[in-house]
Formats: sequence, C-alpha cells, structure tokens
Amino acid sequence: MSQLRIQEVRSFWEANPLCAASIPYPLGTKEYFEYYDQLREANEDLSFSKDLHEYAKFSDRKVLDVGSGNGYILGNYAQHGAQVYGVDITQISIELCQRRFEYLGVHGHFSVASVEELPFASGVFDCVCSMGVLHHTPDIKKAIGEISRVLKPGGRLIIMVYHRNSALYRLKFPLMRLVTGKSLQQLVNEVDGLGNPKGIVFSKTEIKSLLNNFRDLDVFVGALKTWMVLPKSLRFISDGCLRRLENYFGWFLYVKGIKP
Ligand SMILES: C[S@@+](CC[C@H](N)C(=O)[O-])C[C@H]1O[C@@H](n2cnc3c(N)ncnc32)[C@H](O)[C@@H]1O
Repeated sequence: MSQLRIQEVRSFWEANPLCAASIPYPLGTKEYFEYYDQLREANEDLSFSKDLHEYAKFSDRKVLDVGSGNGYILGNYAQHGAQVYGVDITQISIELCQRRFEYLGVHGHFSVASVEELPFASGVFDCVCSMGVLHHTPDIKKAIGEISRVLKPGGRLIIMVYHRNSALYRLKFPLMRLVTGKSLQQLVNEVDGLGNPKGIVFSKTEIKSLLNNFRDLDVFVGALKTWMVLPKSLRFISDGCLRRLENYFGWFLYVKGIKP
C-alpha cells in the first residue's frame, strides 16, 4: 500500500483524536481524561481489562502500545511499574499520552510512528499491545510483521480488532444500509468517525490465519452494549440483558498470543 494511504490514515486521526467528538471538555484537560476513562470503562470493564492486559505481570518489564491513543492502557501499565513505550501515527495522540502521564506522575517514552515501521530494534519488548488499530492501517500484514519483530521470543501479544460476526456488522449495519444507502464498508469505516478511510472486520478464523506465526493463540469476543445495537426507543433494555450474548456477538475481537 502506498505512502499516500498512510498519510490519509494519519490525516483522519489527526483531525479526529480518539472519542474527542463525544467528550464535552477540551482535549488534554483533567476533565477530558476522566470523562474518557468513564466512557471506556462503561464499554470494557476494568476487571476485564486487568485480566486482558495482565498489568501486574509486566511490572519492571518493557511494554509497547502501538496506536497508543490518549495513553489509557499505557497509563495503567506504568502505574503497575512497567517501562512503557507508546507510538501513534499522530502528534496529537502523543501529546495526549504525555499530558496523561504528567497528571499521573509516571514516566513513559513516546514517539510518532506507524505500526508499519516501528522505530525499535528487534526483540526488545516483553509485551506489545495494539487495541483497535490494526484494522485501520493500510498494510496489516506488514504491521503484524513489525509487531512480531520487536517482540522478544516468548513475548506477549495482545490485540483487538473489529468482529465480523457481531450484532453490529450482521444486524445493525445491514439495517442502516437500507436507511442510509451507505455500503457496509462505509459503515465500518465510519465507526470511529466520518471520513475514516479504513476499517476491516475479522472472523476468528481470519485473524488466526493472519497471526499464524504466534503460538498459544487465544481468540475471544467482547463489547456488546445497548447503545451499539439498539435504537434509542429500546435503550430501556439494560446492558446486563445483552451480557450473555456479548462473548458471541460483541464488536471487539481480542487475541492474545506468544511469539515463539
Ligand atoms: C481507535 S484508536 C485506539 C487507541 C488506543 N489503542 C486505545 O485502545 O485506546 C486508534 C489509534 O490508532 C492510531 N493509528 C491509526 N493508524 C495507525 C498506524 N498505522 N500506526 C500507528 N498508529 C495508528 C490512531 O491515531 C489512534 O490513536
């Protein structure tokens, strides 16, 4: 994929930092971070996130977050004592990570870079995570190759991508398609904002096949909330009612693995 495409991806995220449109406070203020963290934890329980990221296990170890957004995940790793590194394709995200770390009083290393060209030597990280990023980058195979390269043998991989067999993709988007006339692809692209040039959904089989160089792959589904799939008139139904379906039809497909 051409360099131009990466520029398009960068331009979108530079103009649309993660969830900024849903947060009624100026970027980088304490209120902005507090509001974002509440939004995030409403969609991804803190206890789930602790199990997923194994924060305590990586204290004193080197952790890289690729597409670090506003530093939510790295902040948690840093507070548990990890040596943390964040890269994001946008300057604005890196500034937000730095600001979050100032508020938290923790230390981290941040740089503007693409997942497709990571600015690190090979085999240096104990854990690399990349949540909600790989489905937006032009060349996902190159991105996975880079993540694998910078991980140590035995290092932990944690990623999240959009889920093909989700209620959103299988039910809501086909209905929205009829109403809006937009294509399924356009609706997926627009999940993180109008004008996003790329979004891809994956089935469990598809993501496993892309990650076949990793061992001990654990692939699981989460995140099914009423606001994601129900019209406003039906939102009296609680998130709890959807919980049993979450692990089958949720919007997030998580993968954990180990670099051989
Ligand atoms: C949906 S946000 C997720 C942020 C963060 N991972 C989290 O879970 O909060 C996607 C992030 O990936 C970044 N991004 C998109 N494409 C990228 C690429 N090719 N390389 C590095 N970062 C990228 C965006 O700038 C944005 O901050």
